[in-house]
Amino acid sequence: MKNTGNTILVTGGSSGIGREYAKRWHDAGNTVIVAARSEDGLRETAEGRENLHWLELDVADEASIDQFAQTVRERFPDVNVLVNNAGIMPFENISGSRDLSDAEKVVAINLLGPIRLTNALIDHLKSKDDAAIVNVSSGLAFVPLPKAPTYSATKAALHSYTMTLRKVLEGKVEVIEIVPPGVQTDLTPGQANNDQYMPLDDFIDESFGLLQQTPTPREVCVEQVKAFRHAEENGKTAELIDMLADR
Ligand SMILES: NC(=O)c1ccc[n+]([C@@H]2O[C@H](COP(=O)([O-])OP(=O)(O)OC[C@H]3O[C@@H](n4cnc5c(N)ncnc54)[C@H](OP(=O)(O)O)[C@@H]3O)[C@@H](O)[C@H]2O)c1
Repeated sequence: MKNTGNTILVTGGSSGIGREYAKRWHDAGNTVIVAARSEDGLRETAEGRENLHWLELDVADEASIDQFAQTVRERFPDVNVLVNNAGIMPFENISGSRDLSDAEKVVAINLLGPIRLTNALIDHLKSKDDAAIVNVSSGLAFVPLPKAPTYSATKAALHSYTMTLRKVLEGKVEVIEIVPPGVQTDLTPGQANNDQYMPLDDFIDESFGLLQQTPTPREVCVEQVKAFRHAEENGKTAELIDMLADR
């Protein structure tokens, strides 16, 4: 991925990781469009930044995705990078029968969202030089968190989908996966102030440094997530699931 001169669409740019990446890419000389549901959050991300634009988007709203993609193509015809970052992480207890609305919502946002938005923009991206798709998965794609089972499953699925995209788009669109560890954001209640999580600035500094390498790593893994990313090959998956279950 080029470091500068891109036009980058970042979903989930109204807070947290998406907001901070949007600002870094903007600082590095890219045009950036952030998209999410919260207009206030989007305005805050874009405030005082001439080439940082915002558009409202609910990635779970299937009916609006094509219209959204058309608006992006018309207003920002140079868009060459899609960053699928929007996500939610509800806690669930699957040890007994339950209401599945949270499970269905997390699949719609975390998995169907990237699949649908990629589908709506893929032909456009393929027509561009230096095109890239960046999918934000999680260390929990590789070691599931027992209290967030559907979330973990969506991230494992996104990892798989990303590998296929990379293969089928070889030579046409670069496909990158960012695999964050637990980071201090508002993804779950209390997480932003919990020192078991990586400080947001530290995560952005380290991962953005990796993103700026040439060639861009296919998977952007900061040191803190490597034990999770490589758990299976190291024979550590069961041990790490036990550790997460105690949290
Ligand atoms: N923080 C971590 O520990 C961690 C670890 C691994 C992976 N991740 C991943 O990193 C990504 C960003 O999370 P974060 O930690 O930065 O949390 P965050 O601060 O809660 O940000 C989540 C973003 O997703 C957006 N979003 C949620 N539902 C949406 C929808 N239906 N349509 C459009 N946008 C939607 C939110 O905006 P609106 O609410 O305004 O729509 C917000 O901008 C997520 O995919 C998350 O799974 C985070």
